[in-house]
Amino acid sequence: MIGGGAGGSVAPSQKLRDVKGGGPAESRWKTGLAEFDFVLGGGLVPGSMILVGGEPGIGKSTLLLQIAARLEGAGHRTLYVSGEESALQIRLRADRLSDRASDVELVGETLLETVIATAVAMSPSVLIVDSIQTVFTADLDGPPGSVGQVRECSARLMRFAKDTGTTVFVVGHVTREGGIAGPKTLEHIVDTVLYFEGEGMLDHRILRASKNRFGSVDEIGVFRMSATGLLPVSNPSALFLDGRMDDASGSAVTALIQGTRPVLIEVQALAAKAGFGTPQRVATGYDSRRLALLLAVLDKRAGLSFSQLDVFLNVVGGIRLQDPAGDLAVAAALASSLHDIPVGVDTLFLGEVGLGGEIRPVSQSERRLAEAAKLGLRTAYMAERGTPSRENPEIRAVGVRTIAVLFKHLFR
Ligand code: TYD
Ligand code: MG
Repeated sequence: MIGGGAGGSVAPSQKLRDVKGGGPAESRWKTGLAEFDFVLGGGLVPGSMILVGGEPGIGKSTLLLQIAARLEGAGHRTLYVSGEESALQIRLRADRLSDRASDVELVGETLLETVIATAVAMSPSVLIVDSIQTVFTADLDGPPGSVGQVRECSARLMRFAKDTGTTVFVVGHVTREGGIAGPKTLEHIVDTVLYFEGEGMLDHRILRASKNRFGSVDEIGVFRMSATGLLPVSNPSALFLDGRMDDASGSAVTALIQGTRPVLIEVQALAAKAGFGTPQRVATGYDSRRLALLLAVLDKRAGLSFSQLDVFLNVVGGIRLQDPAGDLAVAAALASSLHDIPVGVDTLFLGEVGLGGEIRPVSQSERRLAEAAKLGLRTAYMAERGTPSRENPEIRAVGVRTIAVLFKHLFR
């Protein structure tokens, strides 16, 4: 007897080339909801497990019912398990949708053993569990929604997905505070984590991947919640710039590369007399340390002092501005608010700002300029070294070396 393997049986192994399936594109199932397929990396991978997280009421059940309807329509049998709502409630939701969901198979069940037995009997291509917080296994004592239950049920659903080749979606609620037994505890178990997010009262929704074994995590999908369900927004730039005030100070536009496409967004800054105590710095959609750094650069390199002022920075539309190319727009918005002089509605800012106040070129500037031109912007301030060699007749590229030079252009 050798080592500690006593009593184990021999597992069959195989050459990697003999493993069945693969071939990236052809083996994916498309829902035809372009923004959704896009975020997944080109459609669903059979046998994968996808977590869809989001706050209650954001539209997760609506999204998944639409996905179910479309997959069913494309010939992939879909089983929708709901522990959240009655069959009638789901039927009423389905009746509102423009996607025809009437063929989707529905079961109201929360005992995981029954859910899996039902799925085994029906052998659907896609299983949707809405939500992971409502199912439980009889093998554990904890109540549904407890960390132990959520983990164990997810692990078993994952095994079911891998054993049968069924694609499994699970819905997970998150609360503003991050959730107790929420999606965070199962991110490492599943293949793909999608978050569905919205901004306050606005009706647009952003779907983003925070983990994806089968695609990029940079893509976003944008939808609008309508009276007949979620509609894909094929031109997010127009949406994010919609509602911009003409000639308001403190507003500047930049072009980000989100995954594979350029998206225009507005940055708003407000510098106002500080009240009592330490001035506030509040950033939404932007890193607050980066804001502190840019304020220091504005002070030191352009003589703009914010030390007696509260500073609020907001990236419009629920977008997170992480691309360094957005620095220049943030700097311009801050300076514009301080001077109370608008920078011009048809102006684009593109550039990373260095500690010396120098403006550095950004990647893919021609694509960003083209997107801006498409949306009617006419002037782009960018790094001197980064101006495109080929002129775009629709948008004038102005090369500037430092933020101090930029501010001379803008505010003199
Ligand atoms: P829902 O999918 O139930 O959210 P979640 O599953 O994330 O909790 O959607 C909730 C909201 O969406 C609800 O307030 C009603 C709204 N809604 C519409 O505006 N249009 C529609 O067609 C549907 C189905 C829902
Ligand atoms: Mg729901």
